Amino acid sequence: MHKDLEKILFTQEQIHDRVIKLGKQITDDYAGKEIVTVGILKGAIVFFADLMREIKLPVRFDFMAASSYGASTKTSGTVRILKDIDTDIENKHVIIVEDIIDSGLTLKYLKQNFEHRKAASVKLCAMLNKPDGRRTDIYGDYIGFDVPDEFIVGYGLDYASAYRNLPYIGILKKEIYA
Ligand code: PRP
Ligand code: MN
Ligand code: MG
Repeated sequence: MHKDLEKILFTQEQIHDRVIKLGKQITDDYAGKEIVTVGILKGAIVFFADLMREIKLPVRFDFMAASSYGASTKTSGTVRILKDIDTDIENKHVIIVEDIIDSGLTLKYLKQNFEHRKAASVKLCAMLNKPDGRRTDIYGDYIGFDVPDEFIVGYGLDYASAYRNLPYIGILKKEIYA
């Protein structure tokens, strides 16, 4: 385990098993439909790459970069779009792929944004869900695991840009950001 972590919540193997199941669920739910998956940079990139290989349907990828935490452990409350998608999603079935839903501000903003572009449907898929952090009425349609109200890193999730490449998910020691 990385020395800056207090505890591992999910091992590489547990993550892998869960991602396979999410992929199967999406494959069953979207049979016969055209999917556009939108990964939200940067945090979602690791989960996105793993999940896509478990969806056994034709999928088109796109990416959007959104940031609201920066180098802080608390959301700034403002979602900044740093890069937009370049796919026309009108009448397409969109699945937004995120690493974590915490306050829900990022996904609420993005979901509304996609609905305005007249997508046929917009669903939310997140590897992690932190129910105690919620400040909006946003719920994920596909969730990997629920996590406690702690600062989580690994498998794409960062603190000040570090730890994204850890292959497991864990709780960051408080002394690192206190
Ligand atoms: C993090 C995370 C989600 C969002 C979740 O992104 O990757 O996108 O915050 O938090 P919320 O539900 O409170 O909005 P961040 O702003 O840290 O950007 P990053 O993905 O580039 O790390
Ligand atoms: Mn993010
Ligand atoms: Mg971040």
